[in-house]
Amino acid sequence: MNQASSAPVRVGLLGLGTVGTALADLLRFRSDLILERALVRDASKPRRIVRPDEVVTTDLDEVLDRSDVVVELMGGVDRAYAAVDAALARGRPVVTANKALLAERWDDLAPAMRDGRLHFEASVMAGAPVIGAVAGSLRGNAPIEIHAVLNGTCGFVLSRLEQGVPYAAAVAEAQRLGYAEADPTLDVSGLDAAHKLFVIGRLAVDPQLSWAALRDATRGIERLTPGIVQEAMEDGGRVQLVGSIVPADGRWHATVRPVYLPAGHPLALGEETRASMIYRGAGGEAFLAGPGAGGIETASAVLGDLLAAAAGRPGPSLLDRAAPVPTTAQVEDLGELEAAAAPGASDRA
Ligand SMILES: NC(=O)c1ccc[n+]([C@@H]2O[C@H](COP(=O)([O-])OP(=O)(O)OC[C@H]3O[C@@H](n4cnc5c(N)ncnc54)[C@H](OP(=O)(O)O)[C@@H]3O)[C@@H](O)[C@H]2O)c1
Repeated sequence: MNQASSAPVRVGLLGLGTVGTALADLLRFRSDLILERALVRDASKPRRIVRPDEVVTTDLDEVLDRSDVVVELMGGVDRAYAAVDAALARGRPVVTANKALLAERWDDLAPAMRDGRLHFEASVMAGAPVIGAVAGSLRGNAPIEIHAVLNGTCGFVLSRLEQGVPYAAAVAEAQRLGYAEADPTLDVSGLDAAHKLFVIGRLAVDPQLSWAALRDATRGIERLTPGIVQEAMEDGGRVQLVGSIVPADGRWHATVRPVYLPAGHPLALGEETRASMIYRGAGGEAFLAGPGAGGIETASAVLGDLLAAAAGRPGPSLLDRAAPVPTTAQVEDLGELEAAAAPGASDRA
């Protein structure tokens, strides 16, 4: 598919919620892309888009038949996988922001990734281009360790605990402000961050990184209290939910857990809903940060992918083999960051 002809590329949207509606808004201003159909669960809901009667449908086949490229923004795993698989089977390139789908069905989706027909920049750190970086130029910078703050809801809840708000009230406030889902379990349990870390890990360090092992090595923020978080603040530090990929016992090891970060640590800075990643490689350190969530922020990244797919450009390429695991000497050379993310520090949190 390409945009050489004058007819706009027809976009089939699966899901018209927070991100889907923001994407529909962005598409209004384009002449090269047109929102042709949008799949929803409940067609009777009022929709904030133009031509809703023409566009909204509950018929997946109608969306797939009438689109050149498909964008999956419905969330969940099984139903999303079935829809994405059907779109790929019909030869449509697919754009998705769904990190749960990617983490839980990566191996099933790998053939489409290998063909470059799956685009997923928006799935991790929403508005910060981390997927392009770890699947692109950072491949030349042999990894030593990666640490990332990946879940904006947890950042928000932790900032409220810092102010003395009890955990349950902080989560309720996050729900009220639209940061957390009606069911915030995926966020506060650390699983959402683990989904994102897994996507980074498969692209950056090891194509065999185990999802089951990472899930088992994931702890959330549910047991934190204002007292624990405020204790960390006494010497200027902060507690954050951090996902880390580090060398251990001759292989790559991924984990998500609350960590004490000392004063001035780059992952402890910035707005509460921001996402950030430190990539330490043999060729130096890279730091990426940006909005971790949000309708327009995520939709912008989706639109970037959509333009690439419409122009026939491939999605991120898979890693062929695991990156060499650094030696103990290389890791010991790291200093402060490694010490901050040590298991002892996370036990304190
Ligand atoms: N929100 C963010 O800030 C953000 C950031 C990064 C990534 N993401 C990812 O982007 C995706 C979408 O998130 P969102 O916040 O936009 O979700 P959302 O607001 O819950 O919207 C989901 C949409 O999908 C539709 N849908 C759900 N299940 C369906 C089904 N079985 N059949 C047909 N339609 C179905 C819903 O239909 P109805 O409208 O009829 O209910 C709704 O329009 C998720 O994978 C999420 O993880 C979100």
